[in-house]
Amino acid sequence: MHKPVRALTVVSVILTGLCVQDGGAEGETGTQFLERYEEEALLKLNASKKAAWQQKSNVSDENKAAYVRASLDLAKFKQEMKEEGTVFLFEKSGGLSYYEKRRLYKIARIGTSAQTDKTKLGRLYTIVAEMEKIYAEAEVCMEGSCLKLDPGLTELMRSSRDCQKLSDVWRGWRDQSGKKMKQLYREYVQLSNEAIRLHQYDDLGSQWRSEYEVMDVEKKVVNLFDQVLPLYLHLHSYVRRKLKARYGSESFPSTGHIPAHLLGNMWSQTWINIADLVKPFKNKQMLDVTNELKKQGYTPRKMFQTAEDFFYSLGFDNMTHNFWEKSMLERPEGREVVCHPSAWDMNKQDDFRIKMCTTVNQEDLLTVFRKMGHIHYYMQYKNQPLGYRQAANQAFPDAVGDSIALSMLTPGHLKSIGLLDAEYEQDEEADINFLMLMALDKIAFLPFGFLTDQWRWSVFRGDTPPEKYNDEWWKLRCRFQGISPAVKRGADDFDPSAKYHVAANLPYIRYFLSHVIQFQFYKAACERAEHTGPLYKCDFYNKKAVGEGFKSMLQLGWKEIWPTAISKLTGRYRIETVALMEYFQPLLDFLKKENGEDYGWEENCPKEPPPCNARRLETPISTVGLFVAIGVAVGRLRLRVVLV
Ligand SMILES: *[C@@H]1O[C@H](CO)[C@@H](O)[C@H](O)[C@H]1NC(C)=O
Ligand SMILES: *[C@@H]1O[C@H](CO)[C@@H](O)[C@H](O)[C@H]1NC(C)=O
Ligand SMILES: *[C@@H]1O[C@H](CO)[C@@H](O)[C@H](O)[C@H]1NC(C)=O
Repeated sequence: MHKPVRALTVVSVILTGLCVQDGGAEGETGTQFLERYEEEALLKLNASKKAAWQQKSNVSDENKAAYVRASLDLAKFKQEMKEEGTVFLFEKSGGLSYYEKRRLYKIARIGTSAQTDKTKLGRLYTIVAEMEKIYAEAEVCMEGSCLKLDPGLTELMRSSRDCQKLSDVWRGWRDQSGKKMKQLYREYVQLSNEAIRLHQYDDLGSQWRSEYEVMDVEKKVVNLFDQVLPLYLHLHSYVRRKLKARYGSESFPSTGHIPAHLLGNMWSQTWINIADLVKPFKNKQMLDVTNELKKQGYTPRKMFQTAEDFFYSLGFDNMTHNFWEKSMLERPEGREVVCHPSAWDMNKQDDFRIKMCTTVNQEDLLTVFRKMGHIHYYMQYKNQPLGYRQAANQAFPDAVGDSIALSMLTPGHLKSIGLLDAEYEQDEEADINFLMLMALDKIAFLPFGFLTDQWRWSVFRGDTPPEKYNDEWWKLRCRFQGISPAVKRGADDFDPSAKYHVAANLPYIRYFLSHVIQFQFYKAACERAEHTGPLYKCDFYNKKAVGEGFKSMLQLGWKEIWPTAISKLTGRYRIETVALMEYFQPLLDFLKKENGEDYGWEENCPKEPPPCNARRLETPISTVGLFVAIGVAVGRLRLRVVLV
């Protein structure tokens, strides 16, 4: 991604045609307005953040209603401030600096809060809170006991190797979550598009993409995906062969897809939990951090301290007293919560929190690093004006914690903190085992991260009408991820919102981008640490120069556009896949050799998902043709993007 447009070009496009009214206190200058805004906004945010925290950490109808009231109140405030701020931006902008204008611009961009019809806006907020509530309360009952997503169903998907049971859990979760939101989601799309059109955007998707402040986001994302596709293609096929050996090829469709329930995760988005089934070199060790964490009696708190210690070694501040007092690090007793992990800036100087139902395993240890990366971002920009207290790019916060976790996870570092036994030998085969483990997390995620918003952008744009919601979702899943539904999907199913970010209305492309950017951050950090040797072996623990590099980027917050921010750490102004490809090159070479001609899948979903252990003759598939199919699929998508 490059060619940044100056933010002020964007704002004039967005605000052109708005009826600019006279606003602001008599004789007030733009600078004075910004000061007044700062004070009033802090108060309003105080109230709405508190209500939001309650709504998510104590789910009830009462707290939902309070949250909707606080959101409406905040929206009203934003509408007023936008009116006043716009006057300074266009009519009385004389004497204002670029940075003051950028803050005004921020105040003028209020998203769906632009909806002035209070009933409609209230309904919009209620729908989202209602979908979150359905998601938080959903449970699947089997064999006389009922399980929530976290930790129950997640743990089952992680550890069970019983095809039928996995299939039942997979279906059960979708029946209890997504399916119940189908009507709500339809209404939500309508209401949010209506609101965002008052803001001169075509649809909600175009507003989401505009947050990146560069042109052609869709095209650029497709381009990045194209570059990393070979890695996924070869990982997929290697994993498929290993899974066939475990579950029997009769449980797999002849189209080359992997049934979605066999990958160790509810959405098949990370495959790290099936590492034991796909380990390349059986006689060589593979990291098993989960096992060590459990053996050594780690608690969620200790996992957070492990992350705190790593950041501290780079020269970051420790977590605040309030962090430890007010965070929710485990699922509490006696009340319902939204377990999906999130980091919170309560807009005070010392109140930062994480809300997470932490389980002691490697996946969650990585999430702890990721979320703590957000907190360090908040802490670094806390002295900026309110408008700048935001990441330069929505993909950065995750990428910060993730890139630091890449260093923590190196065998060298794990040994030093006792999470890997001293006997672990590093040779070529152990290295491939290691890279496989990392790929099961990072590479397996890429198409899922890519396609979730391909679906939503198309829905918001109206290209995918409500009656095609689920079909289109599966078309994308089959085409790009090469996975197929565990069981046949019916007309009532609505699988997209069985994923938290769809139910909770959170943009997703940032996660695809952060999976690319984190390697870019990591490589830049390794260069600062003067690392030599293969990239994947770099551990920068204790290297203050690395911390300085990160800080120079994080401190800016939203003050500068992200290409400027990323250049502070990396010296480059764009998002690139070079570091990611370099990191995994030895694994790609290995996979290509192992796969030979056996890779790829058909573009379309199988007609009938095979039941577990069905007795069917396997039809051999022509793999070269399949590679062409997926390549063309991406090509076609690119074409469509250009035409839009
Ligand atoms: C925010 O609310 C808390 C609790 O009600 C209060 O103590 C604090 O002073 C408020 N902060 C601001 C900036 O108003
Ligand atoms: C949760 O919310 C309810 C109101 O719905 C309130 O009575 C209760 O005190 C809250 N519990 C906690 C722990 O905040
Ligand atoms: C910061 O946290 C780390 C790890 O929890 C701890 O070892 C260190 O002593 C702390 N430093 C300060 C100054 O509190």
